[in-house]
Amino acid sequence: MNPTPAATDGSLRAAQGGTGAIPRHVAIIMDGNGRWAEKRGLPRVAGHRAGAEAVRRAIEVAADAGIEVLTLYAFSSENWRRSDEEISDLTGLMRFYLERELKTLQKEGVRVKLIGDPSAFGPDLAAKLGKAVDATAPNRRLTLVVALNYGSRAEIAAAARGLAEQAVAGEIDPASIDEAALGERLQTADLPDLDLLIRTSGEVRLSNFLLWQAAYAELVFLDTLWPDFDAAAFGEALDHYKRRQRRFGGR
Ligand code: FPP
Repeated sequence: MNPTPAATDGSLRAAQGGTGAIPRHVAIIMDGNGRWAEKRGLPRVAGHRAGAEAVRRAIEVAADAGIEVLTLYAFSSENWRRSDEEISDLTGLMRFYLERELKTLQKEGVRVKLIGDPSAFGPDLAAKLGKAVDATAPNRRLTLVVALNYGSRAEIAAAARGLAEQAVAGEIDPASIDEAALGERLQTADLPDLDLLIRTSGEVRLSNFLLWQAAYAELVFLDTLWPDFDAAAFGEALDHYKRRQRRFGGR
């Protein structure tokens, strides 16, 4: 999807003036599980199962590449519109994945953090998720942020509401509310700025994901369907990032 050619070596990057750097924070909109399954005449759940394997690969690649934070859009607040059967397949898969992978996450030094509102998945799954967060809290090699029942507009509205409540209570001066004050109230406040946002499956939109955080992120859209996302596809996205010049609005 991206018109820029693939980087072949460091000299090309240098000639094009790209950053040549590894992003600190990468986020992924994992899209295309359904189409992957459909192409094979399989039920959608087979695509989600294969998607969960791609999650495992992506975590490994991110940790090995020295990325600090990997944020995955696992379930959007709009995904509740899917059939009851598909929602139960997705939550069942998350439960299974958590049970199977917790040891590996520990071994790999992965810290799990949640954004969104996972309580909507019921007390059982919410407790399992909480356990994974607590158990992995000391890990430092990679922070895996899982966005569950997440919507960016709701996140920004909640941040604005919190500031308004503080202002009404006289705790802060409304004139002091600036970009930093709002950013500090987002669920991502403790994370480094988003550097690279990847979406798979050829769709070119943000779908209410990290709208505030993506203000200066590089965006990479790949045709690869999520279950086919492997080290090569991740490498392709990282190459795009390395070649881009980040100007943050300057020249
Ligand atoms: C998009 O495919 C993907 C999702 C709805 C969510 C991603 C879920 C997983 C990768 C499964 C497991 C997750 C974890 C964290 C273990 P789609 O169904 O929208 O695909 P389509 O657009 O082709 O129909």
